[in-house]
Amino acid sequence: MNYNIALLPGDGIGPEIVRSAVQVLECVGQRFGHHFATTSYLLGGAAIDAAGEPLPADTVQGCLAADSVLLGAVGGPKWDDLPGDQRPEQALLGIRAALGLYSNLRPARLYPALRAACPLRSELAEAGFDLLIVRELIGGIYFGERGRQPLPAAAGGPEAGEVAFDTERYSTPEIERIGRVAFAAAAKRTGRLVSVDKANVLETSRLWRQTMHRLADDYPEVELSDMLVDNAAMQLIRNPGQFDVLVTSNMFGDILSDEASQLTGSIGMLASASLGEGTRGLYEPIHGSAPDIAGRDIANPIATILSAAMLLRYSLGLNAEARAIESAVDAVLDSGLRTADIAAPSQPSIGTQAMTKAIVTALEDSGNAG
Ligand code: IPM
Ligand code: MG
Repeated sequence: MNYNIALLPGDGIGPEIVRSAVQVLECVGQRFGHHFATTSYLLGGAAIDAAGEPLPADTVQGCLAADSVLLGAVGGPKWDDLPGDQRPEQALLGIRAALGLYSNLRPARLYPALRAACPLRSELAEAGFDLLIVRELIGGIYFGERGRQPLPAAAGGPEAGEVAFDTERYSTPEIERIGRVAFAAAAKRTGRLVSVDKANVLETSRLWRQTMHRLADDYPEVELSDMLVDNAAMQLIRNPGQFDVLVTSNMFGDILSDEASQLTGSIGMLASASLGEGTRGLYEPIHGSAPDIAGRDIANPIATILSAAMLLRYSLGLNAEARAIESAVDAVLDSGLRTADIAAPSQPSIGTQAMTKAIVTALEDSGNAG
């Protein structure tokens, strides 16, 4: 089969890790008889520099015309002083919204081979964890009304400063659609779903909680419980093994997924899928553009390679192909190879290219063996 994949390499380490994932996709194509036609589009700082805007119309059209989209990362110090609506990050929010990708799946599991890199006590690392964060992606405070106003004179005069505001806003249908994704995911896993909110303070969270409980009637096989977000942040560190699927708002999901990623040893390991109603999705590592290590061949390409595996599974329905990539990553980690971020202090590490090559070789070997 032929598939069209739009690539959004972005900034910093984005281009090098996307290149790694494409090498892996090419190898999968050869082994399983597919052709992945890739086209790169500008996004983020790279687009600001080349086209004067973070999300050119061309990029949106290219993504809409593709079967699916693979993204690297955006942002960097070079563009940090731009006004909020012109920053590279705006392109990421814009493309998620333009493609209608309201659900963001962020799996975090502890690889047995990486137990030593897990910052938790050894008995917790030994027990391991395998959880999935389902994050609402195109609503909430990220997309609510925001702005700045001068502080009224009566309250101290203009020289007293300004007022800034961001608005958290969720509607019942927005909560329902992300809720259904999470219930369905939990039903396919161990059937345990934790809805994370701040219902003791926020009205949006109270609507969130009510809606999740109403949905629960449609999923008798799923056991739903609620957890306040501050407690969830604590429980993730106290005992991550208690969780299976968590569902939460855009901002809480952003924060908790970075926390969960660090429990796996490195944020360089975590892939994500962003999906909407159709099969087209956007797949990206959850880490950022790491400008400090860009172009130095030291970035860990695994999160992006695993994102490509998720693309094969969720957008193209190629399960065996996705599993082949995941097994190749397992095999390489089991063999002891590490990029710097997941190497123990005394352990030697390899670069981005060498890690990519090792994964491609493992893929080829398993193909020859099978
Ligand atoms: C993420 C990132 C983005 C987000 C930033 C770069 C806008 O942190 O994908 O988690 O907050 O969604
Ligand atoms: Mg984040």
